Amino acid sequence: MIIKSDLTKAAALLSAGELVAFPTETVYGLGADAANEAAIRHIFAVKERPLHHPLIVHVAHVDQIKDWARRIPPVVYTLAKAFWPGPLTVVLPKQPHVLDVVTGGQDTVGIRIPNHPIAIALLKAFGGGVVAPSANKFTHISPTTAQAVWEELGDQVSLILDGGPCSVGLESTILDLTGDHPVILRPGMIASRGIAAVLGYPVAASGSVVRMPGMHHLHYAPVTKTKLMTSIALPGFLETLAPEAFPVAVMSYSTKIVSSSSVHVVKMPAEAKAYAQGLYHTMRLLDGQQFNQIIIELPPEGKDWEAIRDRLYKATATK
Ligand code: TXA
Ligand code: MG
Repeated sequence: MIIKSDLTKAAALLSAGELVAFPTETVYGLGADAANEAAIRHIFAVKERPLHHPLIVHVAHVDQIKDWARRIPPVVYTLAKAFWPGPLTVVLPKQPHVLDVVTGGQDTVGIRIPNHPIAIALLKAFGGGVVAPSANKFTHISPTTAQAVWEELGDQVSLILDGGPCSVGLESTILDLTGDHPVILRPGMIASRGIAAVLGYPVAASGSVVRMPGMHHLHYAPVTKTKLMTSIALPGFLETLAPEAFPVAVMSYSTKIVSSSSVHVVKMPAEAKAYAQGLYHTMRLLDGQQFNQIIIELPPEGKDWEAIRDRLYKATATK
């Protein structure tokens, strides 16, 4: 059931161990009580997600970090001041009580304060931490509208709170603060440059592929065959396609190719923030139509685009 807002009911459902999907500024989350193992196992079942993949704990207030994490370096509060509520997740050593099903059996926990009025109101009404992976089936495109959550999960969720389209559109930046130096485990729209500016020193990006479902090939992927192509290669590629390869959809921010009966061109924003906001929604819409393939123009180089490029590479990784 999708509703605009009944936060009392939503919080009561969470307390009763049920699943509630809710909007955040990044993507819609599939929420459960972070202290309820059965409820969390239900998330994995609904998402069809492997059990060892850790979940992010969402809280309403910075004082709640210590309920979940320990050995919290002062830098966390500097980052919190700059970026929370907002699309940044910090990974810290976990408190002993934090369930293995939350952390994937690791001794660390990911935490963030989302920047959406409904998310914050829900977290406040509930009182505790809420684990929330993106509200989609494992490897599918993350939902950025309540309707998309419904298409992914339908009645498997007790309640879907509708907070309109997500304003950021890509999952949070994940920053590991458990080592000697901060490391970005998943790029997001809070870019490494912005974090470095707040910290006063550079941050590394992880080349590692462990622990991170987001690092798996074919994450965020449409079902339709999807290709990533440079601006230069794109027009020539269309010309080489056999007649039976059409119709195709093209997502492009710069192309001069015009739509025809066989080529449907979606003009994407040339500015990173607007591009990110619409990316999953556009991919989902095109995936739902009868295209033989989706061809995406590779966005520009540059720091503002790092998270977008990351998701596009994953969405187009070959099976
Ligand atoms: O923007 C977001 O982060 C959204 C919204 C709903 O908040 N949530 C989200 O959750 O993207 P999910 O489960 O789809 O992705 C969470 C990522 C996973 O790649 C997971 O491996 C990583 O966070 N993660 C969580 N806890 C971790 C930990 N302790 N160490 C390393 N990675 C962790
Ligand atoms: Mg996800």
